[in-house]
Amino acid sequence: MLGGMEISFHGKTAVVTGGVHGIGRAMAELLSKCGARVFIFDVESAPLDFEAQVVHCDVTSRESLRAALDVSGRPDAVMINAGTGIVRPLPETGRDVWDRTLALNLTAAFETLQETAERMKGHGGSIVLTASTNSYDGEENLIAYNATKAGVLGILHTAANELGPSGIRVNSVNPGLIRTRLTQASFETPAVVKDYFRAIPMGRGGEPAEVATAAVFLASDWASYITGASLLVDGGQMCCKFGPWKDESAEFVSGQWRRL
Ligand SMILES: NC(=O)c1ccc[n+]([C@@H]2O[C@H](COP(=O)([O-])OP(=O)(O)OC[C@H]3O[C@@H](n4cnc5c(N)ncnc54)[C@H](O)[C@@H]3O)[C@@H](O)[C@H]2O)c1
Repeated sequence: MLGGMEISFHGKTAVVTGGVHGIGRAMAELLSKCGARVFIFDVESAPLDFEAQVVHCDVTSRESLRAALDVSGRPDAVMINAGTGIVRPLPETGRDVWDRTLALNLTAAFETLQETAERMKGHGGSIVLTASTNSYDGEENLIAYNATKAGVLGILHTAANELGPSGIRVNSVNPGLIRTRLTQASFETPAVVKDYFRAIPMGRGGEPAEVATAAVFLASDWASYITGASLLVDGGQMCCKFGPWKDESAEFVSGQWRRL
């Protein structure tokens, strides 16, 4: 709430792909709390403690996507979020890993955007892609993932350009390391996160809800003149070369760096 205005999705329909777990789930919950009628397109299901309808949908299949959109009807806001990251050194990244990662993170993102934008034409709407800090860097052992997340920016820029005249905005959130099942193992290994978070000015990893607020802002009318933008949600990771946390002046306690 700011100056008497609040972010509202009352009377609007929102679709979140990959919204059963992790970042997508937090997006779906926040959209629902902001008044949207929320449809989660996912291959999995789990009990929800907020109002939303889970539609079984494999976003890597255009038929499955179309069937799910028949259930939701025309969306006003779409979060293209379903994705995966398979950790493999370069020599061990086989065609199977490459193809699976591209199918979900890139091809499905493209097809979801194409299908939903087509339905939004004549009405307008807003699309938010989940990209990554890995859209920009070359984190080791993630060549397929990094290629897809860099590619998502190509989709973002081109779609924002082509869809602007139809009143459709397209933006991305670019999360850093966020605590989800995809990254739980890292969060549970202090030796890993201690070094990782050393390079993050905020000194810690992020929570799904902290990505959701950024994504829902971009999807909302508050971002009415924002399109083609990428919003880093990374605790400042991408703005520094070496990070501010040194053993002489800081300690790593309970999963986060603090000044001594
Ligand atoms: N967790 C992080 O640190 C991080 C950082 C940057 C970007 N991201 C991106 O955020 C997005 C969400 O990741 P997360 O960490 O929440 O992962 P997650 O595994 O917790 O959630 C992914 C969701 O996608 C669903 N999904 C998987 N395959 C699907 C398919 N074929 N069709 C429909 N749904 C499918 C899963 O069932 C799950 O609900 C991904 O695009 C990921 O690349 C995550």
